[in-house]
Amino acid sequence: MCGIVGFTGNKQAAPVLLDGLSKLEYRGYDSAGIAVRNGDKEPEIIKEKGKLKVLAEMTDYGRAVEGCCGIGHTRWATHGEPSAVNAHPHASDDLNVIAVHNGIIENYQELREKLMKHGYTFKSQTDTEVAVKLIDYYYKKYAPLPIEAIARSMVRIRGSYALCVMFKDYPGEIYCARKDSPMIIGIADGESYVASDVPAILKYTRSVYYIGNMEIAKLEKGAVTFYNIDSEVIEKPVTEIKWDAESAEKGGYEHFMLKEIHEQPKVIRDTINSVVTEGVVHFDSINLTDGEMQAIEQVYIVACGSAYHVGVAVQYVIEELTSLQVRVELASEFRYRKMTLNKKSLVIVISQSGETADTLAALREAKEQGIKTLGIVNVVGSSIAREADNVFYTLAGPEISVATTKAYSCQLVAGYLLALQFAKARNEITDEKYEALLQEIYSIPEKVERILEDKERLQWFSAKLINVSDSFFIGRGIDYAIGMEGSLKLKEISYIHSEAYAAGELKHGPISLIENGTIVIAVVTQTALTEKTVSNMVEVKSRGAKLMAVTTAGNYFLEDTAEFTCYVPKIEPMFAGSLSVIPLQLLSYYVSIGKGFDVDKPRNLAKSVTVE
Ligand code: AGP
Ligand code: GLU
Repeated sequence: MCGIVGFTGNKQAAPVLLDGLSKLEYRGYDSAGIAVRNGDKEPEIIKEKGKLKVLAEMTDYGRAVEGCCGIGHTRWATHGEPSAVNAHPHASDDLNVIAVHNGIIENYQELREKLMKHGYTFKSQTDTEVAVKLIDYYYKKYAPLPIEAIARSMVRIRGSYALCVMFKDYPGEIYCARKDSPMIIGIADGESYVASDVPAILKYTRSVYYIGNMEIAKLEKGAVTFYNIDSEVIEKPVTEIKWDAESAEKGGYEHFMLKEIHEQPKVIRDTINSVVTEGVVHFDSINLTDGEMQAIEQVYIVACGSAYHVGVAVQYVIEELTSLQVRVELASEFRYRKMTLNKKSLVIVISQSGETADTLAALREAKEQGIKTLGIVNVVGSSIAREADNVFYTLAGPEISVATTKAYSCQLVAGYLLALQFAKARNEITDEKYEALLQEIYSIPEKVERILEDKERLQWFSAKLINVSDSFFIGRGIDYAIGMEGSLKLKEISYIHSEAYAAGELKHGPISLIENGTIVIAVVTQTALTEKTVSNMVEVKSRGAKLMAVTTAGNYFLEDTAEFTCYVPKIEPMFAGSLSVIPLQLLSYYVSIGKGFDVDKPRNLAKSVTVE
């Protein structure tokens, strides 16, 4: 949710920190701050509520703060309202320990009381200040190395943290500790970097380390040493980041969201090709054998938000192709249910960021029960990617816009390929049908391309939604799942109230809400259910609804009922969701910019919900 950045090297730190934090703004925040050390002089801490530009102005864009070692933070408040005093960095009163933190210290109250008994006082309401003073306490009480003070603190702390710490006695050094919150460490000639995410340091280096849970790192100029919780040195490989700086920028589009919508044909193709060679799906990289797939009796799909909507759509496909039982659960519900999972299950967690707290917790719950887990994840080295037994990486690349589009589409395709491979491994599909369906999946990118070429009509229709206050998305089967996603897209970036309903559910209550001019968007691609959905469309139209239909080319009769019809190319109905979602993404995008909203950073939302 927030961003942390750290640098130690031979150039001024403050500009590097501010630049790095600016690349993390998309993660959502409410205040920001930096701390910089100039040799062994007193460190300078500058922090304030509000956007980064406030900090930049306070520091003359970093030029007014001297020093080559520093840490920075953009805060997403969880304990204590957004304010200057609650902003990070936090420090012990004598500035012996200064730190920034992403995450939640769950037992901060108990630790705060313990520290107060030892004479500590607190300026802020944050949990972070408690962690900082706990490190200070152990450092002074046992006079250990910084590593040991941090390790002792990690043993006492319950919760999640990506911590960057500076010690007065160790100028030029930054200590990092991680549990559950995202963190990446970069290395260059004579310089070391730490950040919440790759875009913050990509300008400076592509050589990175992935610090693991309960691990500590010591950053010196151009050198990083890793330790485990027992303060033993551990070796780590350097990974080269393949993304170029361009791919994390807008690439000529007005917004990241539009860029990412247009990247879908490519990234869907990349995701398919990552597991399909010469017409056969290979799950070696996913390490899920045919034998294991045959032994599975139940599949649980667990996720949040759009990733959950992927699960709802994929459930239909798995049920269509195999005899497997499939349950789809919201991660925030799954993690607290008293549910005994079938031991012969596979829990599939879907997450773009791989850091969503609820989904990570659900994954751990499944592992606690000894259930095999598979992550469909977009961020390499993310927490979910590293903790799931198996990982199917979507190759959507960095998704900057808060509203997911390309990652969602890649997750859908990953789900299709899993369903297809399950059917093959369980001998529930003929070779002919397998090959035919694989060709249909291969046709998705080119068909998405065709829809994108015809986006101007959607822009025209979107103008009719600008002043709308309510909207309904209806559909049956996979169309209902796509309606869920279309509804969320419209809600989250245009702030128009919207609900998705199974079309057959309207008469059980919601139809009472339909009145003159109510917008209803029907998704109609499931051939076997078309007639039923059309009758629901007629029902709402007779009550004054203004209808838009997203349907498969050829269903021209829908124009008798819908005011606006958007056609998508013909495809196997199981995979039609990959096509029908595209007009809904574009529609939401155009309505949002028509209303003048910040498409890529919608209010109240963050790209990755790393706190529950
Ligand atoms: C989707 O547009 C939203 N930004 C949100 O629902 C998102 O899908 C959800 O928070 C899950 O995120 P994840 O895929 O990173 O776990
Ligand atoms: N829990 C800490 C706070 O409220 C950090 C929140 C964050 O991740 O930004 O300050």
